[in-house]
Amino acid sequence: MIKLGIFDSGIGGLTVYREIRKALPGADIHYFGDTARVPYGTKSAQTVTHFSMQIALYLDGRGVDTVIVACNTASAYALDALRNALRIPVFGVIAPGAEAAVKATRNGLIGVIGTRGTISSGAYQRAICELDPAARVVASPCPLFVPLVEEGWLVEPITQEVAIKYLTPHMEAGVDTLVLGCTHYPMLKEVISMVMGGEVVLIDSAQETASKVKGHLEKKGFIDEMRAGLELFEVTDSPERFAEVGRLFLDRDLTNIVHVTIGEKED
Ligand code: DGL
Repeated sequence: MIKLGIFDSGIGGLTVYREIRKALPGADIHYFGDTARVPYGTKSAQTVTHFSMQIALYLDGRGVDTVIVACNTASAYALDALRNALRIPVFGVIAPGAEAAVKATRNGLIGVIGTRGTISSGAYQRAICELDPAARVVASPCPLFVPLVEEGWLVEPITQEVAIKYLTPHMEAGVDTLVLGCTHYPMLKEVISMVMGGEVVLIDSAQETASKVKGHLEKKGFIDEMRAGLELFEVTDSPERFAEVGRLFLDRDLTNIVHVTIGEKED
């Protein structure tokens, strides 16, 4: 039976979990949230790669068949290293988001928003320009979106004000497509769309990644092997807090949340 491993710096990866669950209701999913060491978005490439490697090897050791790096910052910094280290398929969220953006744009002007790490890594910018060298990318970090989402302030006036401040350069540049390049940002689609205007296409990297993973499993003939749709959530900090904020992301209660420690021997 197929078992998918999804990992994130913390809770935001539940947007990816949600889309994968929708696309693959019968998959067994092992979600790992590194809630003790979040955020990754402000940490160096070296640290994020080190943490990501520990988690991916851990998931591999727990018998997952595929690893999905839900965290945009981890995908931006660590994907190549993880693919080199693991023998199972490893999916990131950057390439699916970039591909969808290049397909969606009509004027070749694409906005990308993410954590400071994701934006300064240049990963989305590179992926988009490799697919379409004529595309122009406006990229900027929106760090306050993460705590606003975790506070549950999805449509509050303060969130709208922050969105206007962050998104004005994108509007002024005339982007017609905006990549939501951070796990949390799909939760703010309503406000972001209100600010950008309904004609700007919002690219949800989580959705794009889910359809990519589904396509891969179909091609391999693994879909038939799915049955139970079991879920396990492992977190490196309090399960209670994960359950509380997780309810906001999934709109239901999460069960089977377990606390684990990772990487202490080497640290
Ligand atoms: N999961 C991170 C990302 O998608 C956002 C939160 C963090 O900074 O760790 O980049």
